[in-house]
Parts: sequence; structure tokens; C-alpha cells
Amino acid sequence: LKAKPARALAFVSSLGIYEIGFNAAKPDQRVLAPEWTDYNKRVQYQAYDVTELLSEGDNVISAQLADGWFAGMLGPTRWSEYFPKRGAYGLDRRLLLQMEITYPDGTHEQILSDGSWKINPDGPVRLADNFLGETYDANMEIKDWDKAEFDDSSWENVVSEKNNRNLVPQMNQPVRIIETLECREVTKTKKGYWLFDAGENIAGWCNIKLEGKPGDRIVMRHGEILDDDGELYTENLSAAVQIDTVILGPSGRLDYEPRFTYHGFRYVEVRGLRNKPEKTILTAKVVASDQPRTGSFECSNPMLNTLYRNINRSHVSNMTGVPTDCPQRDERCGWMGDVYIFAQTSMYNRDMAAFYSKWMTDILDAQSERGTFPDIAPHPFGYEKHFTNAPGWADAAIMLPWLMYLNYKDKEVISDNFSAYEKYVNNIVKTNPDLIWRKGLGLNYGDWLNGNTLNAEGFPKTGAQVPSEVFSTIMFYNSVTTLAKMAEVSGMKEKAEEYSALAARIKEAFNKTFVSADGVIEGDAQACYALALHYRIFPENMEKNFEKRMIDKFIPYGGRMNTGFHSTLCLMKELSERGYADKAYQLLETSEFPSWGYSIAQGATSIWERWDGYVKGRGFQGAGMNSFNHYAFGAVGEWMYENILGIHPDNSAPGFRHFILKPLPGGSLTWAKGSFDSFSGKIEAGWKKENGRFEYDFTIPPNTTATVYIPAKRQDKSSIFPDQSGGSFRITGFEKGYAVFEIEPGTYKAVSEI
Ligand code: BGC
Repeated sequence: LKAKPARALAFVSSLGIYEIGFNAAKPDQRVLAPEWTDYNKRVQYQAYDVTELLSEGDNVISAQLADGWFAGMLGPTRWSEYFPKRGAYGLDRRLLLQMEITYPDGTHEQILSDGSWKINPDGPVRLADNFLGETYDANMEIKDWDKAEFDDSSWENVVSEKNNRNLVPQMNQPVRIIETLECREVTKTKKGYWLFDAGENIAGWCNIKLEGKPGDRIVMRHGEILDDDGELYTENLSAAVQIDTVILGPSGRLDYEPRFTYHGFRYVEVRGLRNKPEKTILTAKVVASDQPRTGSFECSNPMLNTLYRNINRSHVSNMTGVPTDCPQRDERCGWMGDVYIFAQTSMYNRDMAAFYSKWMTDILDAQSERGTFPDIAPHPFGYEKHFTNAPGWADAAIMLPWLMYLNYKDKEVISDNFSAYEKYVNNIVKTNPDLIWRKGLGLNYGDWLNGNTLNAEGFPKTGAQVPSEVFSTIMFYNSVTTLAKMAEVSGMKEKAEEYSALAARIKEAFNKTFVSADGVIEGDAQACYALALHYRIFPENMEKNFEKRMIDKFIPYGGRMNTGFHSTLCLMKELSERGYADKAYQLLETSEFPSWGYSIAQGATSIWERWDGYVKGRGFQGAGMNSFNHYAFGAVGEWMYENILGIHPDNSAPGFRHFILKPLPGGSLTWAKGSFDSFSGKIEAGWKKENGRFEYDFTIPPNTTATVYIPAKRQDKSSIFPDQSGGSFRITGFEKGYAVFEIEPGTYKAVSEI
């Protein structure tokens, strides 16, 4: 450079993942860039201000490239007929850089990655893959390769080519190391291996400080859980072995941390150490899309506090550029059904606006010509044929933008893509003219991992399954209803009427086809009623009937639930909204199998994929599909924010401009408190209950209003006190055990007799 730049911006992207340096310094803390998209449709680029990293004279730009999602292993290998072993998008990694320099004298210079760049294919990273792990040979390190004085004359020239990819700026927060965990302990297993316990089941990797002899080979195996003998359990990882291997160089010392892979783990088994290690040599790095935290929750039941943390841990573990099902086994895909049910919880936990804006693009990129949406996004290939249009999975393409609208007032995500949503719905209508969704169900997963899949003594093997077409038609109905609401809020009156009328016809067809005269839904499972009630697909005269059957369906299960991914949250919500709060609290607080509490009693630090991931006495579920870090059943977080804290959105005032506070004290709880930093400001809510007296402390942020429901025996037994700032409120009535107030911004205490 002819002078130190006044300003230097670098725009960088790659096929594969890259790490870039400017005079050996990283421009920021991001990892795994440019993250996962459908690279055939778009590749994200990153922009860096590198002004401070450059100087007059010789400067060096250095980069390392690895396979990442572009060229590495990807997706469920058990479906190998659909997924190639690796290289779903191609095998040739590429780097692209454009640097814009402005000198103090106002002149400009552009620097591009071109044929003058040099490459050495033989670096110390010998193998790197998201599933396999990283192998690092310190003997292959090239001293000062990224510094100006390095002599690169023996290096080859790169092959420079035109590569017409659609480059787009990255709109989601970068993936970074968001937390570092000290190990709880290091122990020696019976087999004689050192086992480090990071204390929490996370996604990321480890930093290890190694001392040994040159050539020592240290192998780090990562796993989520231990078997009954206390050895690392890795069978559930399938092909994703997630092993990092380090070979020590001449100094025999190394501070090692992988950068081109990530693992799902709590425990790390380390082989090849010469001496008994201190637990401090290893720290675990939590790696995730850095979404700002928006939720907090605490209450008098410690188990529920653990559950809340587990929900958040599984949330964070599964946000690596796309929302994944799990971070450990050979899968880690953007499974849409899991988001369908977890989306609102995720939006309470963290600010998801940017992240889901990016992911909606991945979804839209994978819409087929005929209108189907994918089951996984990004969809690496073949979305015209495979992994597409599954009820409750593809439907997330409609559900998610609606929730983005309600939470973030994002109208564009609705209006810009309205025709895509219509095309999806109309394709189902076209293939199913009688409006029962029977054809084009794709892989048709249904109410996934419901009670029928549980393998535990004394738990019935039948009776929990929602019949395929009952499930699909409810999902179809909800998508059409949601489409009508989208049309309405976008001012498309005719479309709103058209889709409301279509929804009414689907409802009619559903009831005619699946509901008997005495109010039994085909399948007659808890989930049938929970879903039908929740999505309101019932004729008026059946509502009470459905409610009663939903309750009766607990009897054959000794009061236990047997619902799957899509229906569990609906069950919880319908119980509490219909006067069965005690039952909902009992399900939430119990440790009896199957339940959240059961997993916590077994030591879970994250949400399990299956209720019976591990059963005392029986052991693990089948290794093929048994993750201990899946957020889907964590969707109960939504219930906790809304019912325990009492924070509800008001669907007619998107972005929480107006909202509802309606706490539902119950179960063993004597107090609870928390907050939600909504799009319109931070809502705080907390209560305590003592000797028939209920106190609710809450804050309504500036420029919002709220309807607040205070549990009370009678209206005159409740009063509200604003703090010194003097907010204002008025009583509007008394409804089913609640005194109702309309309240202006401020901080208040409500006191009532209950
Ligand atoms: C994933 C799920 C996903 C499902 C489809 C599984 O293998 O882990 O979370 O939604 O496949 O049914």
C-alpha cells in the first residue's frame, strides 16, 4: 500500500468455510463464515472494516479454507439414498475477496483475490469436517506464513476463475464463541481414559493446553452422555464421530482449539496424555449465532428453573447459522417442523428477527415449482422430489412469517412473499380437491415421537398416534387460516375473504370425515383433541365434547401425557385455557416418566429429542435417532412465559405495542419472576403468593399499553399501585376470577386476595 489507508473495507466470502487474517490478525470474532445457505442460490458475504489492521508498504492477507457445509458431510446419512456422503454442493472450495482502500489523499485502490495469490495445500489442519471433527498436525505448521516477511516463492499460484454465485450480504448475527465453560471435573474412566465434564450439553468445541513430547497424538472424543459404566456414549452420533486429533510438534506444547468443525457434547474423553491432567487444561467453548438474549425466568421450583435453562441451552446449541434439530449426530439440519412448534419460545428467549429473516430466505429458496415448501431449509438439493411438503414441517413456511409479524411487526415478510405462501396452499388444494390432505404428504412424519414410540415398561404402545390425515388436515387448516390473517393485515380484503371461506370448507370437510356424531375424532388420542382445540377446527357444538375427551384420554395412561412434537404445547395450552390449570401444572412439574422432569431427574442439562432417550433400568433408546439436545419438546417454554409470568402477545397489536399480562399461579409455585425484552421494550413481571394474598409486580414499557388480569376472589379484593413515576390505569371489569385493568406505561404493584 502506498500509505496507511484512511479507510479499508474488505468483503469476503467462500465456498466452504474460511478464516481470514490481515497481517495475521482476524478482523473480528466470527467463526464458520459464510455459514449455511443454499449455495446454488445464494452465498452470504461478510464485510470487515480492516483500516486499523493495514499499514504502509507490504501487507499480507491470509486465509484458510475448509469444507464446512458446502463440501463436507451434511444431513442424515441414514437417508443415504437422498444424501451424498459429502460434497452436497460441490467439492472445490473457493475464496473471494474484494478490498476497497481509500487513502488519506482521497485516492482509491481496489484489491481483489486474483491469480497472483499463492496457495499451499499442505497446512497443519489435515482434516476438518462438521461431522468428523478436526485433525491438526503441529509438525506441519508453517512459521510466519501469514506475515509480510514470509518467502512464498515455493508456493503455487492459485487457480483463479469466474464463479457466478449470487452473493448477498449476511443479515443474521455472526456465529461466535458466546461463552466459555470451565470443566467441572476430570476423572479416569474404568477403561482408563481421561474424561472431562463441561457440566452442560452444548454445541461448540474445546480449547486444550497440551504438554507432551514431539509427535504425541492426542485424541479428543466428544459425547453428550455417559453409559451406565461411566464411559463416553457415542453410538447416537452415528457417522458424526466428532473427534479432534492433535499431533504435537517439535516443542511438545500446544494451545489448541479447532475452528473448522463443531460438536454437540458435554463430555470429552481425551486419550494420549502422558500425565494426569488438571481439569483447567480444557475449557469448553459455546459456539452459536449470537442472538441477543430477550427472556429471563425464575420461580420457586428449582426443577422448572433447570428446565428453563435446558430450553435455552438447546436453543443456543441449535442456532449455527440455521435452526437445527440437533448439534451432535449426522443430521444437524434446519428441520422445519421443530421450528413450527418452537418458534414462539425462541422469540421469547432471544431476538430472532435477523436470524429468521435470513432463514426465511433459505425456506423460500427451497420452494418447488409447484409450490411445495421443504421439510429442511436450506435444502441441499432435490427439493422438487425429496424432503418436501410434509404436513407440519412445510407449514412452518407460513407459521414462521406470521410469528415474525406478531413479534416484530415485520409486514414485509408477509407481503413480499404472499404469493409464495398462496402457491403452497393452492398446491395442496389442487392435489386434494376434497380438502382432506391425503396426497402429496412427502415423508409425512405426523405428530413426531408421540407416546406410541415410547419404549418403557407399563407405557401403552398404542393409542397416542394422530392418524396421518387428521394431522395433515389440521396443519392445512391452520396454514389457510393464517394465510387469511396475513391477507387481512396486508389490506388484501378479497384474499382474506377467499382464504377464510376456504378455511371454513376445510373445517367442514374435516368434521364430516373425521368426527363422529358423539364427538370422537378419528384416532381418539389426547393429541387429536389438543390439536383440534388449539387450531380451532371444531363445530361450536363439539367444543365441550372435545375438551372432555381430551381429559378422559389421560385415564388409560394413569394421568400421563402421550403427545408428540406438535401436540405437546397445544395440550398444555388447551388445558390451562380451559380450566385445567392444575393438570397442566402437574404435567409440567412431575418427574414421572414421560415428562420434562423425568429427563432432569436423569441429569439432563438440555432438552431431549425423545421422552425416553434414556430410561432407568432399560438404558438408551435406539442409537439411530436419540439426541439429547433437541429443542422441539422445549416449546413448553412458551407456556412458561405466557402462563407462569403471564406475558401474552395481543395478536391485534403486533410487536407488543399492546399486550396482555395474565399470570396463572398454580402447582407448587409460591413465586415467579422474569422478563421479556419485546420489540416495543422490556416487559417485566413477577409475583408471589402467600396466605391468600397475591402480589404482582410488573413494568409496561414506554409507548405500549397492556390489559392486565389480576387473579382475585372478587373485583373489590384487588388494587393496583403505580410506583412514584405515577402510571395510570382503569378497571374494566371482572372475568372468570380475574380483575381486569387497562394500563399505561409504568411500573406497578397489584395486590389481591385469592
Ligand atoms: C429430526 C427431527 C425432524 C425429523 C423429521 C429427525 O431425524 O431429528 O427433529 O423433525 O427427523 O421427522
